[in-house]
Amino acid sequence: MMTSVEKASLAARRCQLLERVRGRVLEIGGGTGANAPYYDHGARLIVSDPDPSMYQPLLEKSLGDSSRFDFLSSTAEAIPFEANQFDLVVSTLVLCSVMNPTGAMDEIARVLKPGGKLLFLEHIRATGKKAYMQDLLQPLWSLIGSGCHPNRRTVSLIRDSGFSIEELELFDPFSSFPRPFRFALQFLTPFAQGVARKK
Ligand SMILES: C[S@@+](CC[C@H](N)C(=O)[O-])C[C@H]1O[C@@H](n2cnc3c(N)ncnc32)[C@H](O)[C@@H]1O
Repeated sequence: MMTSVEKASLAARRCQLLERVRGRVLEIGGGTGANAPYYDHGARLIVSDPDPSMYQPLLEKSLGDSSRFDFLSSTAEAIPFEANQFDLVVSTLVLCSVMNPTGAMDEIARVLKPGGKLLFLEHIRATGKKAYMQDLLQPLWSLIGSGCHPNRRTVSLIRDSGFSIEELELFDPFSSFPRPFRFALQFLTPFAQGVARKK
């Protein structure tokens, strides 16, 4: 499913989001390095994830140039850097899974320089009946989906954490899927792609 959704939508979204990456950059929850191929070759990054087993797959995706990345084993709730260090923080499909989203956003705000930006690609809480369905499914989905929450108000959280939203686009990455799959996966939509600036 993830391979299909990457091909159908997310790969292009990652490319669009990350083409603007400049300066000193921290990626949180980098996982196996899905974003690695899309970073500009001049970019110098620290990619963090709590799971150190992600390091090898990340290296393999760094297109043969491992010197572009430093890997850091850390959670987003406890980023081991001084305040005001980074020009950009990147978070893709992470804020749905962190244990403490408010703590993670406080840390992101702390390590960004004033005026620094958070580039995000996350799935978020829907509205109306769909949000109710997300609330119902969340306990089971979190259990099978490594702690993923389909019902988090991530854009509101970003705003409430001292950021102004400069760009925001909501989309359904499953829109080109055959009908039964598209309907079955609606509880994971919408996705939000955007840029938030630390005030
Ligand atoms: C769905 S994967 C997303 C991976 C990658 N960012 C992507 O776009 O494909 C979620 C990642 O968040 C990481 N993660 C889980 N809890 C975290 C936390 N508290 N802080 C930072 N990352 C966390 C997981 O280890 C996993 O690699």
